[in-house]
Amino acid sequence: MSAPGLRLDGEPRFAWRGVMLDVARRFRPMPDLLRFVDLLAAHRLNVLQLHLTDDQGWRFEVRGYPRLTAVGGRRSGSQVGHGPRSWVDDVPHEGRYTQAELRDLVRYAGERGIRIVPEIDVPGHASAILAAYPEYGVGGADAVRERVREPWTRFGISDEVLNVEEPTLAFVCDVLDEVCDVFDADVVGIGGDEAQKRRWRDDPRTQELRRERGLADEAELQAWFLGRVAAHLAGRGRRVIGWDEMLEGGATGGAPAGATGGAPEGATGGAPGIPRDAVVASWRGPVGAELGARLGHDVVLCPDLWTYLDYRQSDDPAEPVPVGTVLSLEDVASFDPVPQEAPGWFAERVIGVQANVWSEHLDTRERLDYAVFPRLGAFAEVAWNGGPLEWSDFRTRLPAYLEWLGEQGVGHRPLDGPRADQQRPGVPGVPRSREARLAELARLTASLRERRAGGYPSRG
Ligand code: ACM
Repeated sequence: MSAPGLRLDGEPRFAWRGVMLDVARRFRPMPDLLRFVDLLAAHRLNVLQLHLTDDQGWRFEVRGYPRLTAVGGRRSGSQVGHGPRSWVDDVPHEGRYTQAELRDLVRYAGERGIRIVPEIDVPGHASAILAAYPEYGVGGADAVRERVREPWTRFGISDEVLNVEEPTLAFVCDVLDEVCDVFDADVVGIGGDEAQKRRWRDDPRTQELRRERGLADEAELQAWFLGRVAAHLAGRGRRVIGWDEMLEGGATGGAPAGATGGAPEGATGGAPGIPRDAVVASWRGPVGAELGARLGHDVVLCPDLWTYLDYRQSDDPAEPVPVGTVLSLEDVASFDPVPQEAPGWFAERVIGVQANVWSEHLDTRERLDYAVFPRLGAFAEVAWNGGPLEWSDFRTRLPAYLEWLGEQGVGHRPLDGPRADQQRPGVPGVPRSREARLAELARLTASLRERRAGGYPSRG
């Protein structure tokens, strides 16, 4: 049964109607995950990308590397709030999913039409890995041990990245073999986002390896690394999904990894190997989506300004831990993934849309509910019908939807703002203006824009 009040009939506009849930920063017990799957099914969504690893925690049981969960799955405290006035509490946070639990989740979700796409985020967002296995970090195990004593208790973008030695790639591939044993989806997430290049740039050994491999810079090194991982997964019959940073590494593409075997082990020279069958999750505005489509990648659109459900829902200072730009229910309803004027070559490549639920500040089920609902209702209609929604029509159907959410025990955000128990007085956030974020996105995606301008043939 689909949620009352939502218009989800006929044929869906998009094949990939996804939600990404960050269970790395905040572990959710299995009953919460099963409930989340039920709620996604009621919205006729069909992909749950599970972000299983990040700087703040590793949640996937890996039999060959037990310290990933034993050490990487526990931190001594967590940041409270955002920005310079935030602090770290001393409440330990831990949790892991056993492989048996995740197999159950895959089955349970599959019975409800939902594919679980696991995500192991490399080579950045690596602090939890390095707390457990410092030998995979940059600068030698002793130095890493000094820098990374446990998964990060802070939020933000860490400098810690994996090194690019062969044993590190072997480790990542071993982990992904276990991922493939548990998850039956044909797509596996390999992250690729926000990998800071400072450590690679400053490390003589990394630079030696980069030169040996004939790679011009750290962006190519990242693409090479991800290409190797993608090639390994191709051998397991999987293609990858990665964040749009994946495309930063110069001339990539080529045949699907399955056809070529991807970049050969120890390859020197030539293009790094993001295979053409890699799916690009485009989160930093339209640039990655457009470049990805031009290069022949399938694209999942998840622009933060329309789909990041951790972003604040209004300008009201009473919004709990206000971060990001304002993303109101009406803003989500205005999401137009493939505007009518979009060229055919672009429309053809957009396989779907995804709402991303980053969980830094969503530490309880109630706070997750508040962030996700009712915005997910508008998102689900966009995913099913295409956007934008006609607001006045959606608005007339909202009461039935909100009533249903209430009946399900979902603590959604009231339309007129947070109730007193949903606020977090005294916990600071960092609200952003749309203008400031657009300027930041322009800066972050400058290299992608250069590639786009660099003469990749229009497929139109
Ligand atoms: C992302 O928001 N770091 C993909």
